[in-house]
Amino acid sequence: MKNTLIAPSVLAADFANLQRDVEMINKSEADWFHIDIMDGVFVPNISFGMPVLAAISKHAKKTIDVHLMIVDPDRYIKTFKDLGADILTVHYEACNHLHRSLQAIKAEGMKAGIAINPHTNVALLEDVINDVDLVCIMSVNPGFGGQSFIENTYKKVKQLKEIIVRNNANTLIEIDGGVTSKNAKQLAEAGADVLVAGSFVFNAENPIETIADLKKITTL
Ligand code: DX5
Ligand code: ZN
Repeated sequence: MKNTLIAPSVLAADFANLQRDVEMINKSEADWFHIDIMDGVFVPNISFGMPVLAAISKHAKKTIDVHLMIVDPDRYIKTFKDLGADILTVHYEACNHLHRSLQAIKAEGMKAGIAINPHTNVALLEDVINDVDLVCIMSVNPGFGGQSFIENTYKKVKQLKEIIVRNNANTLIEIDGGVTSKNAKQLAEAGADVLVAGSFVFNAENPIETIADLKKITTL
């Protein structure tokens, strides 16, 4: 049986009721908290920063998966460890020395992830696949929640899965952007291990049920 992990993106939460939404994720069948950090430089938007993550960490009872959409992320690796990150993902396009960044994340005791933009070919990851715990394939251009899913993603998931198998790696494949109950099953079948879902979960009438549905349809 394949158990696909569900990671609600807190970017889509109600920030005026953040503790309520964090408790909702705690209570639900969700596996991880997905935390989007944007700097207004790498992506054309600014989300939230350290004090907000500290507040989330205080209440979160599940794995904290931090997605850094910032330039030169090496500056903040230790900071995010101290803020409670369990997994720290940096963008391929934002790192000049990606191999070094991955080692620095792991040296702090976190799992290391690489996110790739929709235009970045998965083949570029072949030489670091054994050094990375997670690859986050962006299925929208990063920067905003609520965008529509890019269909080319299925092909990328399959290609990446081949690279992982060929190299005997145990890297997880995460999909981020535009995930709904319409594409979740096909993504899991293509080889995705973790699905991030922001607006689909938080705009739903019943987020707890929506998470349970996503979990059910992606259990293969
Ligand atoms: C986009 C972020 C995503 C976003 C997903 O830059 O990385 O994690 O919150 O939101 P939805 O699921 O609404 O596309
Ligand atoms: Zn994200």
